[in-house]
Amino acid sequence: MGIICTTSQKPTEKMKQTSKKIAELVDGKYVPRKNLGSLNRHTYVLVVTKSAVNAYNNGKKFTFHPSMAMLRIKRIDNNEIDTFTKLLGDISGWRVLDCTLGLGADTLVLSKLVGNTGFVTSLEKSKIIYQVVKSGFENIIYNYPELYSLSRNVRLTNIDFNRYLDNVERNSYDLIYFDPMFQKPLENSAAISSLRGIAHSSRNLRQSITKAKRVAKEAVVVKNNKNYPFNSIGLDNTFTLPSSSVSYGIYIKKED
Ligand SMILES: C[S@@+](CC[C@H](N)C(=O)[O-])C[C@H]1O[C@@H](n2cnc3c(N)ncnc32)[C@H](O)[C@@H]1O
Repeated sequence: MGIICTTSQKPTEKMKQTSKKIAELVDGKYVPRKNLGSLNRHTYVLVVTKSAVNAYNNGKKFTFHPSMAMLRIKRIDNNEIDTFTKLLGDISGWRVLDCTLGLGADTLVLSKLVGNTGFVTSLEKSKIIYQVVKSGFENIIYNYPELYSLSRNVRLTNIDFNRYLDNVERNSYDLIYFDPMFQKPLENSAAISSLRGIAHSSRNLRQSITKAKRVAKEAVVVKNNKNYPFNSIGLDNTFTLPSSSVSYGIYIKKED
């Protein structure tokens, strides 16, 4: 995957240096913006601006926006019950591994639910998505100060979840969560569709769930569409919200 890293027009020296550093991290190539021409002509471009890193996939923009997380967090503040609480009860203090960071909405909600005594580790395989969302989390303080403490309680890692799960101890996390790209996309999910083209698809989930069952102390949860055959990946219990097109496959660990 050839990734070009550049800046917005009229960059500061700091923006150029950040772009060069990101080019090294993503095995990409730094090209000064004035030499790049139209962003639409390139397959993958990462653009460093004053306050963000944005991605362009054949001209289609992908940027970090925590609007969905904000909505859910406001509901939690209004004592409404979030889906994770419906599934698992009170998870304050839990150590959570979110295997599929994506746009970071579930990660921020999980950070809210575990509170100061818990923490969230979030994994993302795509180098591009990781850079965009990492910069979003780092800059959240400027645009969404109410999310600042939640983002500080999250550790982001650019890695394949299978590799990560192979290298952590048994029972190292209380909850392990997967929200893979759906094979049949939901039509109303505009945010997630902005990831298509750059996101990784998760093949052989059954094997990953087996690994997760070893690493989880309390539970493994997988989100997918309503007709997904959760039993084929080793999850026999499912939960669907009323009038929702999304279901959750759940494994609750009983200590042996
Ligand atoms: C549907 S999105 C997750 C959305 C996220 N839950 C949110 O709230 O925004 C799935 C993400 O998982 C990532 N992914 C897929 N396979 C992966 C793997 N093996 N390891 C780590 N990340 C992976 C994709 O690149 C994509 O960004």
